[in-house]
Amino acid sequence: MENLKTKIRDITDFPKPGINFKDITPLVQDPKTLRTCVEKLIGPYKNTQITAVAGMEARGFIFGSLVAWELGVGFIPLRKPGKLPYDVQKVDYDLEYGQASLEAHIDAVNPGDNILLIDDVLATGGTAKASCELIEMLGGNIVACAFVMELGFLNGRQQLVDYPVHTLLTY
Ligand code: PRP
Ligand code: MG
Repeated sequence: MENLKTKIRDITDFPKPGINFKDITPLVQDPKTLRTCVEKLIGPYKNTQITAVAGMEARGFIFGSLVAWELGVGFIPLRKPGKLPYDVQKVDYDLEYGQASLEAHIDAVNPGDNILLIDDVLATGGTAKASCELIEMLGGNIVACAFVMELGFLNGRQQLVDYPVHTLLTY
């Protein structure tokens, strides 16, 4: 796992002063590290009955679609508002400052789908919790939530006590 950490770059004061941004672009740029990361994300779920993977725009699309590919299942994009062309289900949630929303097509989930939710970072957990709610509104079952990294000091796991949570790295 330490090898993965060497490919995550700290950018200080981004996107605003006082924030230490964890940049995953060196990780996804390096094919060996990218493969290791995806294999570790799917490890616990290889022999489970996952029927779809959902990922949140934008960085969740990178890892989520690779995980879906490796598991041999489809991918459900959870998008920022106004991007999806068909009828949508929307969920609103609070950010540290302000509000955000995610949307999915109303037919994105097949009845009874067992879904693995994937994103790059678990921070406050607001995005992931809202994503779980969105999937459940559409009739899906969240099997687990998996992340490349977790910012432990933001206590995102407290938002996800109803779900198994798997993270590769903790900061
Ligand atoms: C980032 C990150 C996670 C989310 C975690 O997304 O990719 O999705 O924040 O934060 P939380 O746990 O506090 O909700 P963001 O929408 O900022 O950027 P992105 O579009 O690059 O994924
Ligand atoms: Mg994101």
